[in-house]
Amino acid sequence: MAKPTPITAVKGFRDVLPEESARWRALEDAALRVFGRYGYGEIRVPVVERTELFARSLGETTDIVEKEMYSFADRDGTGLTLRPEATASVVRAYLDTGLANRDPQTRLAYRGPMFRRERPQKGRYRQFHQIGVELFGRDDALADAELLMMLMEYLAVVGARDTRLELNSLGDATCRPVYRERLRAFGEAHRAALCGDCLRRLERNPLRLLDCKVPGCRAVLAEAPLMRDSLCAACAEHFAAVRALLRAAGVAFTEAPRLVRGLDYYCRTAFEVVAGGLGAQNAVGGGGRYDGLVAALGGPDVAGIGFALGVERLAMATAPAAAAGPTVVTVLPLEERAVEAAFRLAAGLRAADLAVVVEAPGRSLKALLRTADRRGARLAVLLGADELAAGRATVRDLVAHADRKGALPLDGTPAALAASVRALLAGPAGT
Ligand code: HAM
Repeated sequence: MAKPTPITAVKGFRDVLPEESARWRALEDAALRVFGRYGYGEIRVPVVERTELFARSLGETTDIVEKEMYSFADRDGTGLTLRPEATASVVRAYLDTGLANRDPQTRLAYRGPMFRRERPQKGRYRQFHQIGVELFGRDDALADAELLMMLMEYLAVVGARDTRLELNSLGDATCRPVYRERLRAFGEAHRAALCGDCLRRLERNPLRLLDCKVPGCRAVLAEAPLMRDSLCAACAEHFAAVRALLRAAGVAFTEAPRLVRGLDYYCRTAFEVVAGGLGAQNAVGGGGRYDGLVAALGGPDVAGIGFALGVERLAMATAPAAAAGPTVVTVLPLEERAVEAAFRLAAGLRAADLAVVVEAPGRSLKALLRTADRRGARLAVLLGADELAAGRATVRDLVAHADRKGALPLDGTPAALAASVRALLAGPAGT
């Protein structure tokens, strides 16, 4: 029979192995700890939502809704989508669970996988992971500044290198439509120099003209009118207050008057954090204010602001934490009848909070020790005929290459075992 072809992961979807997982966990734990200090509690929202939730909130003409969603019909015909982001889901949950009535000024943090059918490249995947927050019920500049302060504090806590906060205001329902028309008129006047994508953007979503990476378009748009010169008085005042508060708090930022976001729900404050050394996909996070979104999804007229960080990119932008995992111990039953005692001993050592792996007997001691070494084990516990007879195991220090005969009692309590192991790790090696 032909050998079956191995099945590979789907393009843009990847496996995260233990070492990388540990880093992600550290990043997530630190996030929940730092955000918790600002009053955020964790919400877990489903990965699947009704397609209309995203169609109604992210913007019909965004790349995500137009071409990147994983949408499918459920067996009963309901249109469902794997969430491309979590803000829409958190807003839905805020309304759905009654939080909007019970606790309108809610602060929620989340983490988990998101799905976008983008073109995969370094730092860009079709399943990726975010850590994010949403704050409802606050429309004041203090809320924006505090959220940004928290974001930058978090990035400092996890040691993100070479990061820059880029800040802009996108105006509101009063001033943005006016600006959009000014930008459209500018684009129309320069049609001949624009790429095909920009000609489409001109019709459907002129703000995205500012996002084009094509050199010809960039040269033209360098002269385009900017939102900051079109802000209404209320938006200009809000933006000035946010900047003043950030300066007062010592949070560094750069103004990015061409920053537009890939989602349409934003108004006023919009921002991204970029990090050096990540290549083309250098945004580790982004977010902004979305004051009309809760109402657009059928809720009360409640303000909102939030951000999300990409875990894959965060991991690239932070140094791997010094491996401070538990001490690894390998237990090696050297013959079949030592297995039972090995299991008991392993259970005692685990109860003493050591990481313990029991190997199967039947291979040579040399082969077993090689395996232990590969696992990063510090100590190997040897259980052969002599040890069974004596009721005490031999311990080999794999770093010092020294044996301690009878170092561990086979029937020791976890506390006694932990004390013996600590003594072995601290004391002079060899007998
Ligand atoms: P976003 O800018 O679309 O915003 O995504 C936030 C972050 O997720 C990005 O800065 C990036 O680090 C990461 N990310 C996005 N797409 C990918 C991808 N294909 N592969 C790897 N990483 C990716 C949002 O999603 C908004 N919901 C943020 C927000 C929360 N706004 C208000 N509240």
